[in-house]
Amino acid sequence: MYSDKDLAIYVHWPYCSRICPYCDFNVYKGRRNESLVKAVCDDLSGWRSWIGPRQVRSIHFGGGTPSLLYADDLNRVINRITSLWSTASKCEIALEANPNDADRWRAYQSTGLNRFSLGIQTFNNEGLKFLGRDHDGKTARSSLAMVMDIFPSVSIDLIFGWCGQTADILRNDLCTAMEYLPHHISTYQLTIEPGTAFGRALERGSLHALDPDMSADFYDHVVAHLTHAGYDHYEVSNFARPDHKSRHNMACWTGMDYVGVGPGAHGRITRDGHRYTTVAELRPGGYITRVGQTGFGIYEKRRLSRTEQASEYLLMGLRISDGISVERFERLGGHLNPDILKELAEGNFIEISGDKLSATTGGRRVLDKIIEKLLID
Ligand SMILES: C[S@@+](CC[C@H](N)C(=O)[O-])C[C@H]1O[C@@H](n2cnc3c(N)ncnc32)[C@H](O)[C@@H]1O
Ligand code: SF4
Repeated sequence: MYSDKDLAIYVHWPYCSRICPYCDFNVYKGRRNESLVKAVCDDLSGWRSWIGPRQVRSIHFGGGTPSLLYADDLNRVINRITSLWSTASKCEIALEANPNDADRWRAYQSTGLNRFSLGIQTFNNEGLKFLGRDHDGKTARSSLAMVMDIFPSVSIDLIFGWCGQTADILRNDLCTAMEYLPHHISTYQLTIEPGTAFGRALERGSLHALDPDMSADFYDHVVAHLTHAGYDHYEVSNFARPDHKSRHNMACWTGMDYVGVGPGAHGRITRDGHRYTTVAELRPGGYITRVGQTGFGIYEKRRLSRTEQASEYLLMGLRISDGISVERFERLGGHLNPDILKELAEGNFIEISGDKLSATTGGRRVLDKIIEKLLID
């Protein structure tokens, strides 16, 4: 559990050397931008004046591709954070990386970075080509071996359910990952988002989404394979060896406060008894200008109603195996219908143990439907 003073910090680095056809994150083609590093640091100072003293438990560089940054850039941001707030003794400092940027990673050791998340997606060359990635299977392997050697905690991202992927290819990806035993694995089912290159191809009919039954089988296979290998399936898409859950993601899923700096970053802050949602200016140029003019990158700050807070707590909390505290959900104004709870428990979709309500493995497979049921009734 965490205290009111605990804080997570998310830093969004929006640049990528090229844009993947499936990606709908806030990303732009480019590499490094000195002015953006400065703006992120100044935005952090703005946040400090708003939220006051806190204890930072995690710093997460996400993207985009923050592994395009140099160690000096990371140092500037981390030093600004540690000059503004105290940090917890085991503060997680994590960064998302593309396998191609390995040349600068050894230098990252000097920054205090202690968690490294590598976007492998698949080790299969055909799959990597289909996904529009600029690395191959050999680079994925060599960069994974390298980061396992450098960092105390390594996570990899895999995507399953892409066109052309077979059960054998998926098995091979999981077995290859097991050769290295990363501390943490995120496995995402490919989603084809409107507005992306894949979304447009789907509309034109030149791309087909994977059959939903096959995708569900793939998911079951991933869960069985990784749990058998000793990973804790602690969130719908995430698996960890003991003590290697993502602190940053856990902060978001459990309703802890987090700062969001960098273009398009989201934040959640509790202040004077109210909880706020924030969104930073989306485009890098606009963000830099806004920080320069106002000292903040935020363009939208809104107070969450109690109903919104309760819904969000349920929505996020049922993703994780720890589930939610019913008492906290009700304190936020949420209401659980006993008949619906009974029906879902009898169907083995949820478990209730004392104050804890959680989704079972089967329940997490159809989580959207369960949440809809719990929130409507
Ligand atoms: C925002 S990316 C950042 C990491 C890094 N830029 C990379 O791509 O390797 C985080 C992860 O989200 C996942 N992801 C992004 N778009 C996705 C999509 N449409 N479907 C499934 N997974 C996706 C990928 O596994 C990716 O590694
Ligand atoms: S998936 Fe990663 S590398 Fe590809 S565009 Fe999105 S953030 Fe950039």
